[in-house]
Amino acid sequence: MKAIAVFSIKGGVGKSATAVNLAHAAATAGGRRTLLWDLDSQGAATYLLKLAPRSGRKARSAMAGETDLADLVLASEYPNLDVLPADRSLRRLEGDLAQSDKLKLLKKHLKALAQDYDRVIIDCPPGLSELADRLFRAVDLIVLPIIPSPLSERAAEQLRAELQKTHAGRPPVLPLWSMADRRKKLHRETMERHPAWPVIPYSAAIEAMAVHQKPVADLQSGGVPARAFAGLWAAVEMALIRG
Ligand SMILES: Nc1ncnc2c1ncn2[C@@H]1O[C@H](COP(=O)(O)OP(=O)(O)OP(=O)(O)O)[C@@H](O)[C@H]1O
Ligand SMILES: [Mg+2]
Repeated sequence: MKAIAVFSIKGGVGKSATAVNLAHAAATAGGRRTLLWDLDSQGAATYLLKLAPRSGRKARSAMAGETDLADLVLASEYPNLDVLPADRSLRRLEGDLAQSDKLKLLKKHLKALAQDYDRVIIDCPPGLSELADRLFRAVDLIVLPIIPSPLSERAAEQLRAELQKTHAGRPPVLPLWSMADRRKKLHRETMERHPAWPVIPYSAAIEAMAVHQKPVADLQSGGVPARAFAGLWAAVEMALIRG
């Protein structure tokens, strides 16, 4: 099993959209047994797949090991794709982690999930937090969406510096251009600095995911955004092989 965190220090850069569409591509086109793990108490990824946590089950207690994490898992309407939904109890996860000395907690949870899944894709809340620190220790790859602007590039540099300083440069990072709008000169110029990075275009269909609560490949099969996410998935698999 390989675990992939869709992470950024910055908010609103397309993490949840990326996590949902990557997980859908992994499960359907990729044929991998895939779990989308929503670790953001906002629950955007859960919502985008038209799911909601079952009442009475709390992700926070499951994270702490008081209940079984696997009991929270929901089947999505897509083959091979399950979801570990977020709920509002996760708002207190940061506080729990700050008080806990279990640095390998997430790693332990992922190990338990490994028998049922080939790929676990984690939608992370923004920010360099306790949770981020635990994630960096546990995942095989960070997928980093970057809006093509100088400030986002700075966030990417900050992440690299943090990984170098505290985690010996691990895990590897796969950056991508998110919400890229080629009509904008600034976007074009910024993207020219890293022409090999995968590109997810700014797209009304991706925005409409929140209305229809479906992955973009289900809304517009074979469309430009769906093909972009299929390409991103191929890049993720390549990055996992390179390690
Ligand atoms: N490629 C895209 N084209 C157009 N709109 C997009 C695209 N990607 C994301 N969006 C829209 O931008 C907003 C932010 O996206 P998203 O929620 O995925 O970002 P996020 O990084 O997960 O945010 P947060 O930090 O709040 O978790 C949403 O309204 C989403 O619908
Ligand atoms: Mg999000």
